[in-house]
Amino acid sequence: MLRGKHILLAVTGSIAAYKSAQIVRLLVKEGAEVKVIMTAMAKNFITPLTMATLSKNPILVDFYNPENGDWNSHVKLGIWADLYLIAPATANTLSKMAFGIADNLLLTSYLSARCPVAVAPAMDLDMYRHPATAASLEMLKSRGVFVIEPASGELASGLEGKGRMEEPENIVRYAEYILSKKTLEGKRIMVTAGPTREPMDPVRYISNHSSGKMGYAIAKACADRGARVCIISGPVSIGISHPNIRVVRVSTASEMCDAALEEYSFSDAAIMCAAVADYSPAVYSDMKIKRTPGPYSLELTPNRDIAAEIGKIKRKGTFTLGFALETDNEIENAVSKMKKKNLDAIVLNSLKDEGAGFSVDTNKISILSSDGKVMEGCLKSKAEVAEDIADYVESKLTCL
Ligand code: PMT
Repeated sequence: MLRGKHILLAVTGSIAAYKSAQIVRLLVKEGAEVKVIMTAMAKNFITPLTMATLSKNPILVDFYNPENGDWNSHVKLGIWADLYLIAPATANTLSKMAFGIADNLLLTSYLSARCPVAVAPAMDLDMYRHPATAASLEMLKSRGVFVIEPASGELASGLEGKGRMEEPENIVRYAEYILSKKTLEGKRIMVTAGPTREPMDPVRYISNHSSGKMGYAIAKACADRGARVCIISGPVSIGISHPNIRVVRVSTASEMCDAALEEYSFSDAAIMCAAVADYSPAVYSDMKIKRTPGPYSLELTPNRDIAAEIGKIKRKGTFTLGFALETDNEIENAVSKMKKKNLDAIVLNSLKDEGAGFSVDTNKISILSSDGKVMEGCLKSKAEVAEDIADYVESKLTCL
């Protein structure tokens, strides 16, 4: 998504400046070209050498290089950039931006920028909630500047509160969102993701190996295109912060079913990627079940089938996409599931394919649609597979 994009990253004097190195590394890894502006104060927190090495470009600090008189043209930088990202952004810089003060290269470049601008504030909690800072942020927002809200947690001062710069991964995710085409704007999409856990006693449960990676990648691909996405997520260790994504956390198949039915009632598309347990223990023991000699049998009772329940109440004008994880007779089983659950299409992935399915970062899928069409893909990263799925859903939603 960021391949070939020009990102101008400005770093101000905050302890969070050390995280800017990671932002540059991630942007470069995604294929972006990065130029870095540092304020004089920022150089006290992280060295220009680190930033120059990671960005593969000389660092820009002053209006000109005092050694040789080379001019750092803020006008050219403002035109060059596809995105101007200021991370970390201090209260001082935010206020100057709000009032159009232009006393350093960062600020003159801001006033010259023709591209989207995003700021990731970082400061102590009292500075962040001060009416002056709040007013600057409001002013910037009203002019279309994207504000990547800081997180809450322990601050450099030792105090706890809101003011920690958002994590680099989330800032890069935000950059992708800003730069992507909003082809799914106005659509609401629900995605089920991850496993479910069916408890038998307070310490044990039945589950599976789903990590949630595939479902979360699909959610991100749709959200980047402007859709408002709700992930109904089983227990996973993925954290996501995205302006268009809301996460509803559930644990059991029954909880996932209730949440999915509610969400579907106001969704344009339902993408059911979760690995939902088909059965749960018939009886839940309040006490830990004690080990006894000899075999132990557990009676299981079938869970509600979320996809099938949505299939029963499917509204015209909505699109439903299920998943099938198979080990044998793949196409036959997937088609049978699509029909039984009244889905518009089903994504087939097989555990026979190396690098596909649970937990890994790659997948190999085929999309089978109810009109008999089959689209086969090759082994790709889950992020790329998610883009293919988002393309498919988008093409279907536009003709409904
Ligand atoms: O999470 P990852 O580690 O990234 O792995 C991704 C994945 C392998 C989990 C994903 O790609 C996938 O295949 N998900 C579906 C797995 C599955 O449970 O398939 P199934 O064939 O058992 O179910 C068929 C469809 O019915 C699925 O859309 C499933 O969500 C749905 N279902 C199943 C049972 C049930 N009680 N309710 C359901 O809605």
